[in-house]
Amino acid sequence: MSSSIYRARLGKTPNKKTLEFLSSVKDDYRIFEADIEGTEAHNIMLYEQRVLSREDLTKILSSLEKLKREYRSGKIEIEPEYEDVHEFIEAYVVRDVGIGVGGKLHTGRSRNDQVALDIRMVLRWALIEVGERILRLVSSLLDKAEEHKGTIMPLYTHTQHAQVGTLAHYLLAYVDTLLRDLQRLDSCYSRVNLSPLGAGPIGGTSIPVDRRRTASLLGFDGLVENSIDAVSSKDVEIEVLSALANLMSSLSRIAEDLTLWSSSEFGFIELADEYSSTSSIMPQKKNPCTLELVRGKTGRVIGALNGVLNIVKGLTTGYNRDLQEVKHHLWTGIDAVNDSLEILAGAIKSMKVNEERMRAKVEEGYTLALDLAECLTVELGLPFREAHMLVGNLVREMVSSGTRISHLKPRTIEELAEKVLSRQVTVDEDLIRGIVDVERSLLSRRSIGSPNPAETERMLKERSAALRAFMEVWLLKKRSLERAQNMLRETVKKYLS
Ligand code: ARG
Repeated sequence: MSSSIYRARLGKTPNKKTLEFLSSVKDDYRIFEADIEGTEAHNIMLYEQRVLSREDLTKILSSLEKLKREYRSGKIEIEPEYEDVHEFIEAYVVRDVGIGVGGKLHTGRSRNDQVALDIRMVLRWALIEVGERILRLVSSLLDKAEEHKGTIMPLYTHTQHAQVGTLAHYLLAYVDTLLRDLQRLDSCYSRVNLSPLGAGPIGGTSIPVDRRRTASLLGFDGLVENSIDAVSSKDVEIEVLSALANLMSSLSRIAEDLTLWSSSEFGFIELADEYSSTSSIMPQKKNPCTLELVRGKTGRVIGALNGVLNIVKGLTTGYNRDLQEVKHHLWTGIDAVNDSLEILAGAIKSMKVNEERMRAKVEEGYTLALDLAECLTVELGLPFREAHMLVGNLVREMVSSGTRISHLKPRTIEELAEKVLSRQVTVDEDLIRGIVDVERSLLSRRSIGSPNPAETERMLKERSAALRAFMEVWLLKKRSLERAQNMLRETVKKYLS
């Protein structure tokens, strides 16, 4: 007979390699404490339902608390002969208080609802942590944006000069993306925070469990009601990874912008030494490896999402052991996201911005061309397409003669209008001076969400308020989980005394 508490059905113990292959202990450390809490809540409920005597409950709880202390002091290492943390914890209690009492701990529960519960308990904290890190990144971005309200730079499309804007405008764009990530995580949290416990292996249990009671002891907002759904569905885990992969693809894009801007060719920013790396051979190198790794780790998160989608897509409904692999992908995704958020926030906070260089690129380029064409449309009544043709010709000539847009003469426009459009136009010197002045040009952009200084100011204010509101939302989530944890601890203490 096997030494395992589970393997009575088998005549022989699987060999070491098979046991290792079956085991999820490596991925289970992260659910260790959740599993203890879940087991405590389950057993308290069993006592309240008169399934367990008070004496038995006290013994089980005190054994679980002892195990928790050993785990926290770093004494616990689970051998891979155990299939998972669930077997390990139950076997520990059985060893500790005897099978007469410890053997009752798993009454009315299956590992299937148990592991689904543990994952959700860990995911709640993970979503809170990711959210807090996004909030810190948003805060760094808002501080930088405030600092660089007046920092003029080219805006790019196709990685080519497009229009004039400000660094603040770019940073505020990142903020808006990240605020949507927070909304997604917030919405996702409400679906994570439901308890599958009490679903049993798939079809419930004849033991009079009180599912609402365990859910409430563990701080859940409700139940994953249908017992088949509770043990089979991984759509919520997929939703979490999908939100994380989406977030990472944005972080990666931001990292790519900053990497490019930190090149000698751009020279717009310089990363702090603390966020840079060097070369083993080229002594001059200062590489933006932190940003490159944010980009690189995005692959892990997208891979994790892909991994889980692939695990579930061919399964029959009901628990299948394939699902054990989901945890690994979840933890990989969560770790990569948390690390990336922290690194990116620090890199942005500490980077040096070269304002002169950004402005110089605007002055030597033609990012004011659209402002000029729009001005000719408005002031001279030219159809926009004609103004576009005129300015297109103008820029071609200025590029070939090496003339800057700031040196543009009204005469040049008038002559070109005659030549290209066969139109007589009179252009006012003041009009031209107004449009080739970068600051005045920004003032003339009036559309909502443009880099007009007034719009920047408004967005800064509103996004700072949004940040504070999200901080509040996240704090509430955290407080509510902490409250539930304290309540459970108090209840455990009550039954221990
Ligand atoms: N270690 C398993 C997992 O992570 C626990 C559930 C096992 N359930 C079962 N029916 N074998 O998914």
